[in-house]
Amino acid sequence: MARIVAGVATSHVPAIGAAIDNKRTHEPYWEPVFKGYEPSKRWIAELKPDVVILVYNDHASAFSLELIPTFALGCAAEFPPADEGWGPRPVPTVKGHPELAWHLAQSLILDEFDITIVNRMAVDHGLTVPMSLMFGEPDAWPVNVVPLAVNVVQFPPPTGNRCYNLGKAIRKGVESFGQDLTVVIFGTGGMSHQLQGPRAGLINRAFDQRFLDGLTSDPLGLTRLPHVEYLREAGSEGVEMVMWLIMRGALDDQVEEVHRFYHVPASNTAVGHIILQNTPAVPA
Ligand SMILES: [Fe+2]
Repeated sequence: MARIVAGVATSHVPAIGAAIDNKRTHEPYWEPVFKGYEPSKRWIAELKPDVVILVYNDHASAFSLELIPTFALGCAAEFPPADEGWGPRPVPTVKGHPELAWHLAQSLILDEFDITIVNRMAVDHGLTVPMSLMFGEPDAWPVNVVPLAVNVVQFPPPTGNRCYNLGKAIRKGVESFGQDLTVVIFGTGGMSHQLQGPRAGLINRAFDQRFLDGLTSDPLGLTRLPHVEYLREAGSEGVEMVMWLIMRGALDDQVEEVHRFYHVPASNTAVGHIILQNTPAVPA
């Protein structure tokens, strides 16, 4: 059977993608950011997952205010990088896993999570930046990816609790898939940041640290955070962190924290990153 062995949470700051694409990763401003992901690249290269379920949000690239799915599951064979206004990122086309994705769609919908099935979707920095951070700059991505786009752009986003429970349902779906696959789930977005208004540039290190601590050891506590608290403490875009709870819900209650990284600033946000592993990591 397929099995989720670990979860990765990471910010998906678009400027990180631009720094990679414009060969600026060794500049003093950017070097510390990329250094924080070196252990992660080694970890995932060693683990060699077959599939990544990548939870992210679209930033008005594939969707717009005309169509706002709360949870959109990518079931296509391929997902091209989106043109976000300055041409698509020069990264490989993302290869999907239609069989697993359709199986998940069936499992989730029959489990009463009314997700949207998407058969054509360009993927923006929300998905491609985490791929670059974890896998570097290969000619082809070394894993298949099942994208799960979550609406956290237009109110109302789903609650943290709903996201956590969706993670549990995803795990159930993965474990009922017949093929023997090693799966890692990514939750992306965050950490504290606000892009507009009088509080633009807001960073709240204390909140971010509490969130990272809670992600490892008290995820149920995090599921009780209301949207207004994300807004107040982590800024208007900080609500992206509910997506991390989908990742966390798909893991064991007790997990091993493999790696943690926190850095300020990258563009006008805090960068947070954590790797959590089920035990044992690889099925016997
Ligand atoms: Fe984002």
